[in-house]
Amino acid sequence: MQNRNNYGILGVGSCLPEKVFTNHDWEKLVDTTDEWITKRTGISERRILEKEQPTHELGIKAAKMALEDAGLTAEDLDLIIVATETPDYLSPSMSCLIQKGIGAKKAAAFDLNAACSGFIYSMTVAGQFIKTGVYKYVLVIGCEGLSKVMDWKDRNTCVLFGDGAGAAVLGPVEEGYGVLNTYLGAAGDLGHNLTIPCCFITEEDIAKRPNENKRVLWMDGSEVFKFAVKIMEQCTRQVLEEIGMSLDDIKLIVPHQANIRILESATKRLGVENEKVFSNLHKYGNISSASIPVALNETYREGKIAKGDNLVFVGFGGGLTWGAAVVKWSK
Ligand code: UT7
Repeated sequence: MQNRNNYGILGVGSCLPEKVFTNHDWEKLVDTTDEWITKRTGISERRILEKEQPTHELGIKAAKMALEDAGLTAEDLDLIIVATETPDYLSPSMSCLIQKGIGAKKAAAFDLNAACSGFIYSMTVAGQFIKTGVYKYVLVIGCEGLSKVMDWKDRNTCVLFGDGAGAAVLGPVEEGYGVLNTYLGAAGDLGHNLTIPCCFITEEDIAKRPNENKRVLWMDGSEVFKFAVKIMEQCTRQVLEEIGMSLDDIKLIVPHQANIRILESATKRLGVENEKVFSNLHKYGNISSASIPVALNETYREGKIAKGDNLVFVGFGGGLTWGAAVVKWSK
């Protein structure tokens, strides 16, 4: 029996740009090598939007796939939440652009920015509406065009990122299934380690950016790296402990895809086997809030998860923010 106290994922979808941008393509643009990028990050290639292609187009396609998978139509949706740190416009929001694109006429719509943790934040917010009976079906999308905000001349950051969108339709599921727990956190005092200026920029932020375009992403990679390794372990343990579960109960961890060395290090710290931690980083690089739903869609379509499997999603990134979720797969 469906019960609104139990909310879960009814359908998933994703969309990546067609254009593949390899490490060898970067070799032609900045002082880097395929060997350095592969060894230090695990990334071989990423997908990049054409300059004239808006990011929300990816979100529309991912949303349609997720709706079809859920056996629902756009008109069934009550709410759309788009997790993004790279909106095409500040207004209208990505969620309104996507609402229009899919024809979800009765759905309310807003964007949520929690950077790479955005999908888990959005799932958690969606769950509050479903559990309280305010809304039945909520579409959550991680939708990012990092290529539009990165510094194409800064080898420290440009080789890391890609574009993409991943979507999930959330709604009531059978008792005992669905999202069992979520855990969110933020440390604004560490936010200066990863910044993308928008309507305002400080002199300090201008000075950090060596090239002419100042409204681009800047990151202190090694500070974020140290934070990521610790928080990924802490978050995963916390979200399980809160509901009396352990890593032995988990079939698969679907983490934010930022750097293979972060994933390997967290895998070791958690004491789990490599197969328990999903990675598709080599193909897409870091796509921020889209990375978890894109990975989830991929693992689901490849038949790697079955009804009743327990999954952990774990993300970390700009803000700085973090979040984790435990999901008993209900499809
Ligand atoms: O999604 C949000 C969360 N983001 C992350 O989790 C990212 C976390 N950070 C990282 O993944 C890593 O810190 C990076 C991949 C960004 C950098 O790796 P690293 O091993 O920490 O390298 P580094 O920053 O310590 O730099 C080592 C050297 C430097 O040269 P010097 O100063 O030692 O001469 C860099 O200039 O590597 C150089 N370098 C490069 N060399 C070739 C930096 N980028 C490149 C490059 N190609 N693309």
